[in-house]
Amino acid sequence: MARVFSGIKPTGEMHLGNYLGAVRRWVDTQPPAGSAEARDHHAIFCVVDLHAMTLPWDPAELTQSTRQLATMLVAAGLDEARSLLFVQSHVRAHAELTWVLNCVASFGELRRMTQFKDKSAKHGEAGLESASVGLFDYPVLMVSDILLYDAAEVPVGDDQRQHVELARDIAIRFNGRFGDTFVVPKATFPAVGARVMDLQHPDRKMSKSDESPQGTILVLDPPKTIDKKIKSAVTDSGSEVRHDRDAKPGVSNLIEIYGAVTGLSIAEVEREFDGKQYGLFKAAVAEAVVEFLRPVNTRFHELAANPDEIDRRLAVGADAAEALAEPVLARASLAAGLLPRPR
Ligand code: TYM
Repeated sequence: MARVFSGIKPTGEMHLGNYLGAVRRWVDTQPPAGSAEARDHHAIFCVVDLHAMTLPWDPAELTQSTRQLATMLVAAGLDEARSLLFVQSHVRAHAELTWVLNCVASFGELRRMTQFKDKSAKHGEAGLESASVGLFDYPVLMVSDILLYDAAEVPVGDDQRQHVELARDIAIRFNGRFGDTFVVPKATFPAVGARVMDLQHPDRKMSKSDESPQGTILVLDPPKTIDKKIKSAVTDSGSEVRHDRDAKPGVSNLIEIYGAVTGLSIAEVEREFDGKQYGLFKAAVAEAVVEFLRPVNTRFHELAANPDEIDRRLAVGADAAEALAEPVLARASLAAGLLPRPR
């Protein structure tokens, strides 16, 4: 059965890149309540807390961020009647399948993962020495997340392209070696917003790390903060509101953000601001983003007042996810030759 699965890490807060690149589409792909697809859990979303442990972390912060992110996803529109939402560590099959797939993935292919190279190389040779094994193995855990649910489609931003490719490669390899076991998944990307860039450094993607707080718009930022961040975004020399990622990366990023939140194409945005100054353009982008995020922001604060309700939802999600994942893990274990536990 064709399924959609995706995940988000509880490191720091959700930002505009996460929202436009992934979460908004998750909300949109949910099947109608009461439909056969909804009953069959066509859409499954996960707060991937085990992935948040690959870089040094603070335990209290991890607990808090996990619940906060789940609340954000509900605020964004993940509806219990239409999709499954759960926390990765609540379903043990993720860690277990990872071991089996660790023995199918190769050292060489993991070493070539650009995110590992970027994150470990940041601190040179010493950084590589002290990088956790979890950071290296992270893509295999992600492969397990996807394969455990027979997911056919994985809606992600552009930075996860290579990881979903790995899921394809490993599924094909496992099936070839041990017989048809896994659905081979493919990544899907949004038309605009697949790679939202940092407002201060438009040559790198907007991210949750605190290296560039001024360059990252958080979904929960107050309107005044969003306004200030957008108005102080780096633009380029010249004054034309024209899309050209190479020559005008700052302005192009703002054009894409504006297009993504208003539903306009890049050409339509260029036309709207033809002959207008950067100042006026930025003010329009700021206002559009504030209005776009306002409902999620309001809903988040309502939901956060009632954490028991979020926990209840996560409990239901974990039970349902486990019921789907266990048979797939059993299928893979059997195919790989692990002796079934005598009952
Ligand atoms: P994470 O938590 O970094 O990001 C969550 C989602 O947001 C997208 N994203 C962006 N999209 C556009 N512009 C940006 N600047 C931007 N930054 C982030 C990401 O592409 C992602 O879709 N490894 C994953 C989490 C994960 C996962 C999975 C995803 C774990 N298991 C299984 C899919 C399926 C990650 O770190 O995403």
